[in-house]
Amino acid sequence: MKIGVIGGTGGQGLGIAVRFAQAGEDVIIGSRTVDKAQTAADKVKAVLGDSVSVRGAENLDAAKEADILVLTVPLPAQKSTLLSIKEAAAGKPLLDATGPLEATIGGSPTKYISLPDGSAAQRSQAILPDAKVICAFNNISEHCLMAVDGEIDCDCLICGNDKEAKALVTPVIEKIPGVRVIDCGGLERACIIEKITPLLIGLNIRNKSQFGGIRITGLDKGK
Ligand SMILES: NC(=O)c1ccc[n+]([C@@H]2O[C@H](COP(=O)([O-])OP(=O)(O)OC[C@H]3O[C@@H](n4cnc5c(N)ncnc54)[C@H](OP(=O)(O)O)[C@@H]3O)[C@@H](O)[C@H]2O)c1
Repeated sequence: MKIGVIGGTGGQGLGIAVRFAQAGEDVIIGSRTVDKAQTAADKVKAVLGDSVSVRGAENLDAAKEADILVLTVPLPAQKSTLLSIKEAAAGKPLLDATGPLEATIGGSPTKYISLPDGSAAQRSQAILPDAKVICAFNNISEHCLMAVDGEIDCDCLICGNDKEAKALVTPVIEKIPGVRVIDCGGLERACIIEKITPLLIGLNIRNKSQFGGIRITGLDKGK
């Protein structure tokens, strides 16, 4: 699988790129500028060594080449970034980590913003009707992702309307050690998943941690 991380030069994108590269996937980090993308790819190699497959490209080129897309930009950049890759994203799974959040006093993004589309992921789907948008990676922090020596003690809650796309990305995400994918249903569930993120950020602040995440229990009982 080729995985294109669109806007992958920030903390979350870099963390996801690192984990997929570590899992042996072919990763392309996208950016508005090739130099910044290549610098990010070099950072991944600095963490994991030169043998991993990661390179930088402009967002559009990354989207054209990749089989699976990941969107990791702040909410104000969501629309312009998606429009810049619109044709290339058609028909492809797009894992959307966008948090509809803004910073409160003190600087942390702990305030949830209600969006007219219902959620950031539904907004992505409205902007890219031909992409297979899947809400994912909202509840796993960049700090968990970058702690490459250990497993991630978190579930990855996902939702989306295309069952085949979810079935395709699930084993890929689960290559990240410790991560279990929980399919929460259709894309209308995204607002619930996205609301957990500011809760986790607040819990991390109160507990002076950066690794707080979420696990769903009991789903195997009765099988
Ligand atoms: N950080 C976390 O732990 C975490 C956890 C869960 C979810 N998320 C969500 O993941 C997304 C990314 O988070 P982040 O912390 O990685 O964000 P970030 O570092 O602020 O930004 C990521 C990248 O987005 C691009 N970007 C920023 N502003 C832009 C603009 N105005 N127009 C176009 N592109 C712009 C930049 O890439 P280029 O300059 O290279 O184009 C930037 O490097 C957010 O929606 C966040 O809510 C983050």
